[in-house]
Amino acid sequence: MIEAVIFDLDGVITDTAEYHFRSWKRLAEDEGIPFSRADNEKLRGVSRRESLRLMLAGQEISEDQAEEWMARKNSYYQEMITDLTQDDLLPGVTSLLAELRGKNIKVGIASASRNAPAVIARLGIEALLDGCADGNSIERQKPAPDLFLYAARMLDVPPSRCLVVEDAASGIQAAKASGMVTVGIGPVERVGEADEVLPDLEGIHVSDLLRAANWRVAEAEFRPDCQHHQETILTQGNGYLGTRGSFEERFPNDRQATFIHGMWDDVPIVFTELVNAPDWTSLEIRINGQRFSMDREKVEDYARVLDLKKGILRRRLRWEPSDGRQFELTFERFPSLEDPHVMALRVQVHALEGDASVEMRASLDGHVENEGRLHWEFVTQQSSSENTHLVVKARSTQKLLAIATCLSVNGVKASMERRDCPGNPGVSIQAKLNSGERITVDKFVSIYTSRDTEDPLEAAQSKVHEAATSGYESLRAAHEAAWGEFWSRSDVIIEGDNEAQLAIRHALYQLRIAASQEDERVSIGAKTLSGFGYRGHVFWDNEIFVIPFFTYTNPELARNMLMYRWHTINGARSKAADNGFGGAQYAWESAETGEEVTPRWLPDWNDPTSLIRIWTGDIQIHISADIAYAIWQYWQVTGDDEFMRNFGVPIILETAVFWGDRAEHEGDHYVIRQVIGPDEYHTHVDNNAYTNGMVRWHLTKAIELREWLQRTSPAEVKELDQRLAITPTQLDLWRDIAAKLKFCMDPATGLIEQFDGFFQQPEVDWEKYAGRTESMQSLLGIEGANAHQVLKQADVIMLLCLLRDQFDSKTWKANWDYYHTRTDHEYGSSLSPAIHAWAACELGQPEVAYEHFMRAARADLQDIRGNAGHGIHAASAGGLWQALVFGFAGLRLTDGGFEINPQLPSHWKRLAFPFYLHGERQEVDVRP
Ligand code: G6P
Ligand code: MG
Repeated sequence: MIEAVIFDLDGVITDTAEYHFRSWKRLAEDEGIPFSRADNEKLRGVSRRESLRLMLAGQEISEDQAEEWMARKNSYYQEMITDLTQDDLLPGVTSLLAELRGKNIKVGIASASRNAPAVIARLGIEALLDGCADGNSIERQKPAPDLFLYAARMLDVPPSRCLVVEDAASGIQAAKASGMVTVGIGPVERVGEADEVLPDLEGIHVSDLLRAANWRVAEAEFRPDCQHHQETILTQGNGYLGTRGSFEERFPNDRQATFIHGMWDDVPIVFTELVNAPDWTSLEIRINGQRFSMDREKVEDYARVLDLKKGILRRRLRWEPSDGRQFELTFERFPSLEDPHVMALRVQVHALEGDASVEMRASLDGHVENEGRLHWEFVTQQSSSENTHLVVKARSTQKLLAIATCLSVNGVKASMERRDCPGNPGVSIQAKLNSGERITVDKFVSIYTSRDTEDPLEAAQSKVHEAATSGYESLRAAHEAAWGEFWSRSDVIIEGDNEAQLAIRHALYQLRIAASQEDERVSIGAKTLSGFGYRGHVFWDNEIFVIPFFTYTNPELARNMLMYRWHTINGARSKAADNGFGGAQYAWESAETGEEVTPRWLPDWNDPTSLIRIWTGDIQIHISADIAYAIWQYWQVTGDDEFMRNFGVPIILETAVFWGDRAEHEGDHYVIRQVIGPDEYHTHVDNNAYTNGMVRWHLTKAIELREWLQRTSPAEVKELDQRLAITPTQLDLWRDIAAKLKFCMDPATGLIEQFDGFFQQPEVDWEKYAGRTESMQSLLGIEGANAHQVLKQADVIMLLCLLRDQFDSKTWKANWDYYHTRTDHEYGSSLSPAIHAWAACELGQPEVAYEHFMRAARADLQDIRGNAGHGIHAASAGGLWQALVFGFAGLRLTDGGFEINPQLPSHWKRLAFPFYLHGERQEVDVRP
């Protein structure tokens, strides 16, 4: 959210950049120095003295001469500006300033020019400004951040909420260093580093400027009471691991964590969880003996920004211990997307005011926990400047993890010595900084586990040395390039709505960092790798909400996740067998083996002394059909016959065998009793519409796919039939169930009953609950909600979305009208709003869709459910993409290709995205 726009003056507001050039040019001519317009590009935005130095290009003159030359240039310049009037404002400036005023966004000027106040007075724009910082305001000029920080303080707006408009490379650099958003005015060669580049301000509106902030999640001030939320939304990762956005030096009560895919360890009640790995970011700073912490001494000009485009997290602040000294601290880090075993962290301490003795202790902290549970045994460790490492072992699963680090120090002379602590090996760096000096420490880290290789320590050590040899900048460049590649395949552009734009990018960023590119034995948990919530367990969230995004944009990642279901099918087989069925029944919550890991009992959050029976693991069985659906969708979109033949069809048939056993014959139809559908407020229901609808679909597809396989690879069918004991009788049974499975739809109205008896349940008096701040389940109680017509989330509507072409518009409308008003949109499931957004589009109601869409968009970024601290709402994130693509754009695959049926909310100006159909890139670009 941008609260202030800070404009550079010369070359942005008015064309005095030209006057500066002509003044220097005249001086150069006086003195016979060659000086061209091209030479002048470097002088833009820099101070008078620095400009002179650049103009001299190495030629030496005395200090007296320099003073006289600068004065002469200035007198030429002042001569030129005497004629300035309002007419010299550059096109677009006046209206832009007025629009900013109208939107209550503060406006400042930050110019290195000491003549700035005079220029502003002549232009007559004082009344439109809230403040002006000029060359007299500070000492260190651009590209140092000081001038912009000064302006921000003057405007009383935190740096990360300021947007800078600049025409000079030095100015862009300065604004970036201060954590501000940047808009460059001019050619890309000059201002290409800016977040957004515009040729000039003509015709530019505030919203065009604000677009520059659409790639970043920024924290304006650090609030300990919000730290868990911030840690979640600032999570970084690379598909191998995820690291929450906690501070390197830590903070009391933080929820620091790094989760690595597949690193499970046993735990009571919830069976298994992803273990919090040793902290690779760990780094403590002491300046003049005082330990730096966000709650000690004075922290000023704080900004923390996650750059979604490049996958980099930055923090910048000024630390002022009470003795009057000042230090600028900057932190930058990333787990490489290019090489998932590489992590890099750069820390800089800059002595702004006063000398300093600096000590930094960079370590690998194995003293980590999973909310109080300890999983690691320490195996070996070593601390030395060349070789610091730690090997740990998970207590029950015995999985090994090796982490190694290597440091590089630049800027000043420093000494390094080992600082070994049990479970926390490290190295201490010590250096003396004179006032104005800066020390840069690069920490390279590598992690391997026994899941990756035979000898994780050897691998981590050699990788970390390789990383250190490449160097920080080159690793960062490779990492940024990998992100560029991802975005070019995956970005969704929304114009006319900056909040929605940022939200979808953040969602896609979060999904990408959770998706393994190397490992098909893992999948994405309900909270990705970003929090302790649900312990890393994998739910239907993945197949129905998350995978579609990958299927359409990065199918090889989708394939990995679908393969996870293949590798865990033994767990599903034993679950079916334990329940007395044949075939494969997938676990509601799945982890390493595919066995059921849903907790059976959990403490009641209202009364922790009593326990609540969790039934989902026993009877929320629709997941087996959901997996079939994701496989089939993947095949439709990618045409990956090889996957379908070898893994897809076997999974779909083996789960079909389970359905054949699970459905019961009763009279002239079949029933599926005692289940939980997507709407978990209702448990132990019979003939849930979603479940039965999906089972019907599943069995139909199973038959079709078996026929397809018979046509294309008869040998394989034979083998499958044998292995799964599929006989003609079995196939007839599937056909019979698909035809006669109970599905209560009123043929006259199209209204579908969510389960047997739902319509008999009492209604909720919704008016009584207007303005509530809790879920309907917590207001009515578990039994109460179970007994009323109130839904936690889309259930019938969910089915309509997934099988949308099976239902006509009358059916859509009847069910939407009925269920939409009976659903707990605000406090029910976070899976629901995005689906309602999609559904509302199917009904031609884009404005209603938008309301639901934003509810999903705010689940993480705004923490509107208050639980983002537990981790990213992965399903909501994946649902956002589906709402945009299937809902607002109305994308549907057809026999020969695809069609769209766009319906944008009235304020959207554009919706555009690519996707890949059978490997070929397609672009959708919709404007109203
Ligand atoms: C601005 C201009 C520069 C100029 C500097 C100092 O940043 O872009 O071209 O050199 O201010 O201006 P002054 O008027 O103080 O010499
Ligand atoms: Mg300028």
